[in-house]
Order: sequence, then C-alpha cells, then structure tokens
Amino acid sequence: MEAWTPSSWRHKPVTQQPHYPDPEALEAAERALADLPPLVTSWEVERLKAQLAEAAMRKRFLLQGGACAESFSDCRADVLTNTLKILLQMSLVLTYGLRRRIIRVGRFAGQYAKPRSADSETRDGVTLPSYRGDLVNDIAFTPEGRTPDPQRLLRGYERSALTLNFIRSLVEGGFADLRHPEYWDLDFVNHSSRAGEYQKIVESIGDSLRFMETLAGEDLGEISRVDFFTSHEGLHLAYEQAQTRQVPHRSGWYNLNTHFPWIGMRTADPGGAHVEYFRGIRNPIAIKIGPAMTREWLLDLLDVLDPEREPGRITLIHRMGAGRIAAVLPPLIEAVRSAGRTVVWSCDPMHGNTEKLPNGVKTRRFETILSELEQAFDIHHELDSFLGGVHLELTGENVTECTGGARGLNEADLGRAYKSQVDPRLNYEQALETAMLIARKIQRMNGRSHG
Ligand code: PEP
Ligand code: CO
Repeated sequence: MEAWTPSSWRHKPVTQQPHYPDPEALEAAERALADLPPLVTSWEVERLKAQLAEAAMRKRFLLQGGACAESFSDCRADVLTNTLKILLQMSLVLTYGLRRRIIRVGRFAGQYAKPRSADSETRDGVTLPSYRGDLVNDIAFTPEGRTPDPQRLLRGYERSALTLNFIRSLVEGGFADLRHPEYWDLDFVNHSSRAGEYQKIVESIGDSLRFMETLAGEDLGEISRVDFFTSHEGLHLAYEQAQTRQVPHRSGWYNLNTHFPWIGMRTADPGGAHVEYFRGIRNPIAIKIGPAMTREWLLDLLDVLDPEREPGRITLIHRMGAGRIAAVLPPLIEAVRSAGRTVVWSCDPMHGNTEKLPNGVKTRRFETILSELEQAFDIHHELDSFLGGVHLELTGENVTECTGGARGLNEADLGRAYKSQVDPRLNYEQALETAMLIARKIQRMNGRSHG
C-alpha cells in the first residue's frame, strides 16, 4: 500500500463529488478552509473513541441522531435546542432501559453533503446537476441554484462553527434541566395503547433524577454535565481534507471538522478514494453497511481501515431494511467475530425502509422502523453479539414525515408539516416513543418486567 497523506485519496477512483465549473475558485476555498481553526479538538475525538471502545465491550450505548441533511436555513436557535432536547430525553429513556451510559452523537454541525443516485436531474426537459446538499449547491431547480459553488464550503464550515458554539454554550448552561419530565412534551402518550407503560418509564426517570440530585446536593458536577459529540458523512473529500491536521504531542492526523465521520453506503469501496482518506485519520469512524455487503468486502474494509485493531476505532452501522435484516445480518456478525474483531454494532432502521408514495412523497413507516430495530436486537442477542447503538434520522420539531406512532399519522397527514429536503425523519414524539420502545424491548429481553 502506498504512503497515506491527507491528499492521497486524489490518486484513487472517486465518486459522489461535485463538478465545479471553476477549479481555481475551488482551490482558493480549500486554502481558505485550511487556514481556519479546527471545529473540534483531538482530545475530544480521543475521548469519544475511548467511550466507543466501552460500547464495543457492552458497557455503553451509542445514540446517534439528527437530520438526514442539515440545511443552512435550519441553523437556528429553536431547531438546535429542540434537537438537543430530544437527544437528551431519548438518552435518559435509554439509560433507564439499558442500564448503561449513553454516548450522545448528533448528525449535526457539518451534515451538509449528500450522496445522490444520479449526477443530474431532469424536469420538463431541463437537465441540471442534482442537489448534493447545502455544502455544494442549492435545492432550487435553477442553473444558478444547482451550479456547485465553492464558497458554500466556507459557508458550511461557518454554519458548523455557529452550531457548535451554540451547542457548547447550552451544554455549559442550565440546559441539563431539560432532562426533567416537566420539560417533556408527553401529550402523545395518551394517544397510545401503551400509555400506562410510557407513564411509568417517565415517572421512574423523574424519581431517579430527583434521587441523584438529592444525593449530590448543590454540587451536581458530573451529573449535570451532558456531553454531545458531532458526526457527519465524510463525503466531500476536498472539504474533509482541508481540516485534516496534525496536532502537538500526538502522532498521526485528525479530521477536526467533526468528532465522528462516517463512510456512506455508496462510497465504501475498499479501493476507492473515500476509504483511502478514512484509513489515515485517527478519529473513530463508522461505516454504513447495506444488504449488498458481503463477508469478504466487510473484512477487506476492516483490514484497510483498522489494521491495528484499535479499540473504539470502528462502528458498523447496518441499514438492511426490515424485510432483509434477518437474512443478511447474521453472516456478517459471524464474519466479524471469526476474524477476531471487536466493533461497535449500530442499527440504522431508517435507510433500508424508505418508501415512495404514488404522489412522489418519500416516507417511512414507524412500525417498519421499529420492526427492523427489534429484529436487530434479537439477532445480536441470539448470536451472543451486542447491539451497541442506534442511528436515527430525527428532529425535535413536530414535522409529519414518517407515518405511524402513537398519534397514528397517516399518508394524508404528511402534507401538513413535511419539511425535509431529503429523507423523512421521526418527529419529536415518534423519536421519544422509539426510545421508550427500545427500553421496553431490552427490559423484556433481559426478563425485567417493570416499566
Ligand atoms: C444517510 O445516512 O443519510 C445516508 C445517505 O445513508 P446511507 O449511506 O446508509 O444510504
Ligand atoms: Co438519509
């Protein structure tokens, strides 16, 4: 294998990159980005890697969630606060159900680039480049909107910095109060046949919090601190390269755009540019694996990306679809085990379950999402493996993008508040209910009947 450098990916076959009409403008933007300070630090990245190593050893659980694609216009106080709020509340429900500490990771502060199935889109005989996320171009179907603009790389970096700045301030302040059930929006519970069970979970969480806080007195210290880490798909390689740095007193290179970049399903070719880029960075990384993944392919990826078998380095996010997971996941779990490797396994029950309605609207059914999740827990349990995380597309807003859930949203409801530019997300209530159903599932699996 040839020597790795932050730019060695440029010698490999690359897919899913925009075609910029003005390469010099792109280079200027890359240079500008490379001069700006990092968004995250190597010690935060290493702290997350250590926590993921514990998740691989069954001691923690990873909750990763956020929008399919962040948009520049969603860089707002209310949207961000609501995202943190739902992730925080879900993490408490999961702590309660799983009896484990939760690692909270947002799909935010940089989730601005999207893979597309086609390079271009045609409407009424007009063909323009596909929308590839706000980091690249605009969703508006006009030649100006769709032409990739390198200045957007700087705008994306800035939006990420604004997002992180606000998140860090919230975490330092009184935000942890949102843990308390007084701040939960629980109206939906009354619409569910499981209302009693849900109420009990929330009451138990309230009791535990009050108990802990009484013990800790005024000095809440660790208890009041809520960490959030950032993640995004490491898709736009020139953008990722520009923030790939060496730091004093540590060896190797870090991607300091984000704590936890992942390789998307479409760019996981072991001989391709994305895998080349990822193999040289010291961050913990995730790989999305779909139903076409084979044992050989997966083991190849692990050999290239984690030759030293470093604890916490690899998270495998399977996204098979509720109808496929039972057939395709078990051989992959066996393959990883027989290679003597320890990874964090995480389930993305969203991307294998997207449907297009006759009117062209993309949706996902709550029951199907839940079915893939439940099967994932069962499959790992039966194989004496451990499902150490979930990866969800969600929002803290009351959107109507996925059907089902306690309120029984149906296809006709979707028009009411469908805001996603890309994939349909769980709304606040559906996301909280998902956490409750996971908690309930684990308790049943472990033979604990209460709650
Ligand atoms: C995504 O996470 O939004 C995505 C595109 O996923 P995948 O690579 O698994 O299809
Ligand atoms: Co998506």
